[in-house]
Amino acid sequence: MKTLEATSENILYAAELIKVGELVAFPTETVYGLGADGLNPIAVAKIFEAKNRPSFNPLILHVSTFEQLENICFVDNENIQKLIAEFWPGPLTLVIPKKDIVPEIVTAGNETVAVRMPNHPVALALINKARTPIAAPSANKFGMLSPTSASHVEKQLKDRINLILDGGESNVGLESTIIEVKEDQINLLRPGGLAVEEIEEIVGKVNQFNIPKVIPNSPGQLPFHYSTQIPLKIISKNTFEELKEEKVGIIVFKENDYDFDFSEIKVLSHKGDLREASANLFKYLHELDVMDLDLILVEPVSKIGLGKAIMDRLEKASNKFGES
Ligand code: TXA
Ligand code: MG
Repeated sequence: MKTLEATSENILYAAELIKVGELVAFPTETVYGLGADGLNPIAVAKIFEAKNRPSFNPLILHVSTFEQLENICFVDNENIQKLIAEFWPGPLTLVIPKKDIVPEIVTAGNETVAVRMPNHPVALALINKARTPIAAPSANKFGMLSPTSASHVEKQLKDRINLILDGGESNVGLESTIIEVKEDQINLLRPGGLAVEEIEEIVGKVNQFNIPKVIPNSPGQLPFHYSTQIPLKIISKNTFEELKEEKVGIIVFKENDYDFDFSEIKVLSHKGDLREASANLFKYLHELDVMDLDLILVEPVSKIGLGKAIMDRLEKASNKFGES
């Protein structure tokens, strides 16, 4: 495995690897992706091996052009067109009826495919040079923290992939928002880096309750996900009365007002800005997770705008440790 800076030359090399069916980890504005040629089922199968991911979970296809998009799915829906015009390239994934060219392994047998045009020059150049949609989940092992830098990818997947393209830190820092667009309704499948409120301004009401109960089962929809190794708790009323652990790291939103001797304090955004907080969330979780701590405490934020996605990730991470 090697990590290379994302120069044009190295992007070309990465595109060659994609074309011959190999895996490449690459930066996007949301998180780093673990990419393979999305139209080559054998290449896509390697993603599941590398991640230890249950293979019934469908993947997002990343495109760089509208020709590519039309090649893989049906975009003749007014709401889809409006959303694309407004938010692409960007942190919005659309679940759309697929065309036959998309392999079953990508969609887990569904009639729909998830597609996204990332807003990152390296990702776009890589897809362009590879001349194929790139299937890519987040470049972490199944169930673990998503990577927002090349070194996060190295930590988890080092021996399992050929190449990591290093394009610096992901500036959104949360995975894309996933929206399913149907004839008569629009459903939120995963809150993420684009606030639902912004989407509703363009297409009206987005249903937020009906996370599908059957397939497709997103890892992002499992109750346990995005986990740290060190136990993580969201701060609630009694947290400090009940606290038994000694070495405690804390992530606060804006400032630390707690009367406790923390081993480490991370502030998501001194300005209290949710965008900045999102961009720092996984980074700080990664940083605390390798420290000598008994517990990671995180302050809740209100579930408005990007706060919804932040709390979704934190609740899933804390569920693993029996608290929410
Ligand atoms: O920001 C992102 O979305 C990142 C970057 C790399 O683009 N990718 C990402 O992929 O988060 P992943 O595989 O970790 O999450 C994709 C989610 C999964 O929860 C999956 O189940 C859901 O998308 N998904 C994929 N295809 C679907 C489909 N046809 N219907 C419903 N959900 C789908
Ligand atoms: Mg993921």
